[in-house]
Amino acid sequence: MSRVLVIGSGGREHALVHALARSPQRPELLCAPGNAGIAGDARLLDVAADDVDGLVAAAAAELVDLVVVGPEAALVAGVADALADAGIRCFGPVAAVSRLEGSKAFAKEIMAAARVSTAAYRVVTDPDSGMAAVERYPVVIKADGLAAGKGVIIATDEAQAREAFEQLLVEHRFGTISAVVEEHLEGEELSLLALCDGERAVPLASAQDYKRIFDGDQGPNTGGMGSYSPVPEIDDADAAEICAAVHQPVLDELRRRGLPFHGVLYAGLMLTPAGPKVLEFNVRFGDPETQAILPRLDSDLLELLDAATVRGGLAGVRLEWSPKTAVTVVLASAGYPASSSSGDVIRGLDHVPAGVHVTHAGTARSAAGELVTAGGRVLNVTALGPEAAAARSAAYAAADMIDFSGRQLRRDIALRAVASSP
Ligand code: AMP
Ligand code: GLY
Repeated sequence: MSRVLVIGSGGREHALVHALARSPQRPELLCAPGNAGIAGDARLLDVAADDVDGLVAAAAAELVDLVVVGPEAALVAGVADALADAGIRCFGPVAAVSRLEGSKAFAKEIMAAARVSTAAYRVVTDPDSGMAAVERYPVVIKADGLAAGKGVIIATDEAQAREAFEQLLVEHRFGTISAVVEEHLEGEELSLLALCDGERAVPLASAQDYKRIFDGDQGPNTGGMGSYSPVPEIDDADAAEICAAVHQPVLDELRRRGLPFHGVLYAGLMLTPAGPKVLEFNVRFGDPETQAILPRLDSDLLELLDAATVRGGLAGVRLEWSPKTAVTVVLASAGYPASSSSGDVIRGLDHVPAGVHVTHAGTARSAAGELVTAGGRVLNVTALGPEAAAARSAAYAAADMIDFSGRQLRRDIALRAVASSP
């Protein structure tokens, strides 16, 4: 038996814990810091997900065999480097590789060198050169650093573009000194994640996430309000082709620079009329895509994550997937995404039928022991069905059994998968 530490406290980490718990290797599961739901499935360690020194000390003290890193902050801050120094296996890349997510400009440089298709762009450091780089509207302006999904501005005219450059380059709203000015792409978005062992990229099932707060993709961006997997337009051959054109060349380019990628490379893609183009890279599992992807995985996740930490370890592996569709609906608290509401009592979880996967994100126990909200995204409800329509019905039926004051959810998750199914 091995001992595995999952880092993070969201729905993604709860989904990782659930999938690891299904491993025939019967690992002992730990999570730092976790949440009220993960507490039922793993032993929680009271260390913040971005406290690199604290995490390494805890992993060493607990004699952990494998650390699986959920969120990006610790990776960008070097948790994989520090764990390697301590002789502890880590699923997640070192800091120099994590710049792929931490710096949009670095990601663009790697894509150019690897000849990966992406939006045309310029890196700028002051508003005047920013304005000079705009060729047409709408234009996409991105902070060159981690901004929790909020650093992307789509400006439709000169006034909006000027304001965006002022915010990013004069007020340094996200603490960065440069911005990326990018061609606006149109099409369906797709998340394609691939496990990477330093040499080889192996695609996971395709997924789509819903970033805006309201139905019909209206309102502000959020961390993600729902997801589904697989995406009907993308079959296994398409996924393999995208992986060969995007993930593998990036891995090869990084390796040429002495930077092997061990972990999961997440490509956010736009399916344009001219083919798939990369919008962004993340160096970790997507949230909430992971909540829809992992319940469909029939292979042993622990074996796969372990293999990815070893150079060439994924050679010959085949991933087995359920043919079912998974739909994940996020329940968010009042005020999200501008703010969030804590302490609202959550009711009805015990009515959710077996077979529906509920993962916790922002939940906590009150002093009285009740389950209460403790963040923006509160719970994720994932159901599987023979096709998208059945999965959607099951996910919404279960979501509607759960209630708390101010609960928000989108009603159109995976509707486009229903519409495009044969
Ligand atoms: P990012 O964090 O770079 O993925 O951007 C967040 C969201 O902004 C994406 O999921 C897209 O919906 C949108 N976006 C980013 N880049 C572009 C682009 N070049 N064209 C159109 N939309 C974009
Ligand atoms: N679902 C988008 C992300 O994880 O960044």
